[in-house]
Amino acid sequence: MHKGIAIYPGSFDPPTNGHLDLIERGAKIFEELVVAILRNSEKSPMFSVAERLGMLKELTGHLKNVRIDTFDGLMVEYAKSLDATCILRGIRAISDYEYELQMALMNRKLEPTLETVFMMPADKYSYVSSRLVREVAQAGGPVKGLVPEVVEQELREKLDPAYKLRDARLIEVLGKRDFDKREKKRKKKA
Ligand code: PNS
Repeated sequence: MHKGIAIYPGSFDPPTNGHLDLIERGAKIFEELVVAILRNSEKSPMFSVAERLGMLKELTGHLKNVRIDTFDGLMVEYAKSLDATCILRGIRAISDYEYELQMALMNRKLEPTLETVFMMPADKYSYVSSRLVREVAQAGGPVKGLVPEVVEQELREKLDPAYKLRDARLIEVLGKRDFDKREKKRKKKA
């Protein structure tokens, strides 16, 4: 087991079985693993940061050396603030390699003491990505086996027109802030 803190940064929009597989592998290797969700992504995400945080907390509750956090700005700065020594990233196929290499080398240039460690998820998840999961779910296709059940349920709720209508009405009545608070409470209870 590697002493110290490792960070597994990403968008996790939504978390997939591939992410979870990597978290479980990482938790066996690192003393402490912090799964860090990027907060200030320019992309408009399907799930809010609070929703992703909630799902990841639920999915990793059984792993005592894993915690979930969010970060803003440069990842290396966030890593330094935690005294982390490693960055964990997953590589599924050669196609991931180019982008991951570029990012790892840029991060090394920014902070030479921080090592990037690559791990491979189980081959059955080698084609699974958050982007494709979103695409399939948005088109009404099945995502069973690609994402954990709790994520499947969240996707269903997010995309079901009946749920959407209910949420839009509630936002109108409660306002966005109170609606978010209410949703947070509801998900905690579920
Ligand atoms: O899951 P993703 O979208 O592939 O994760 C990408 C992520 C969040 C790891 C990357 O975009 C990142 O670290 N962003 C933070 C800003 C930063 O540090 N950029 C320089 C990286 S070379």
